[in-house]
Amino acid sequence: MTTTISPLIAGNWKMNGTRASLDELSVLASMLTTGEAPRAIVVVCPPATIVAAAARQGATAGIQIGGQDCHTEGSGAHTGDIAAGMLADAGAQYVIIGHSERRAEHGETNDQVRLKAVAAIAAGLKPIICVGETEAQRDSGQAESVVAGQLAGSVPDAAENHEVNIAYEPIWAIGTGRTPSNEEIAAMHACIRQALVDRFGDKGLSIRILYGGSLKPQNAREILAVENVNGGLVGGASLLAKDFYTIISAV
Ligand code: PGA
Repeated sequence: MTTTISPLIAGNWKMNGTRASLDELSVLASMLTTGEAPRAIVVVCPPATIVAAAARQGATAGIQIGGQDCHTEGSGAHTGDIAAGMLADAGAQYVIIGHSERRAEHGETNDQVRLKAVAAIAAGLKPIICVGETEAQRDSGQAESVVAGQLAGSVPDAAENHEVNIAYEPIWAIGTGRTPSNEEIAAMHACIRQALVDRFGDKGLSIRILYGGSLKPQNAREILAVENVNGGLVGGASLLAKDFYTIISAV
């Protein structure tokens, strides 16, 4: 892990969780406050319905809260959508943007993802912009070019002047229990780092690059130690406080 970047571990609860799930957040909070102080920034991204309650509850243990998506606009006639400013108002500091499930299920394009990231920054949120290839793209040797294209299209200009996080999540590793080898992760994260430096100069060296996709207690220590892996985006294993805490402690 690059030492100059403070590591971050974010939990993505996806469409899981009701107010009862705040009990799990309490368990995490007490683990974080009674155990050794975490070396990572801890972020939990619950469903929007409990962002405000989670923000209140997480605050005592230093847990920061994130949304899972936001609209490109600040307000208006967009039934069912949530503006970045609303997430901020509810107590969120982060927001996941362009997760592969949003790209696939809602047809989000790189352009939309970039505009969402711009909206998030304007609202004072720190975006976590997701990129990653499908299995077919990796098998046909296109993984790096696909991710390069997503970065070019999804990361806004002037990203280097804000806290923008990139999450590399190979789609075939999400929720499958399969992960790339450490060498494959290192190679992709090095490519991402290079693309950020090519575009943003030295400031690209301090943009955080998270790994996501079947990150779990059993593999967290080795994956989080890979060069240019500055933390993780955790789905399934973030739902249980015990597992998520083990991943946080692996930093
Ligand atoms: P997973 O999900 O950890 O369950 O594979 C990661 C993600 O989709 O962010």
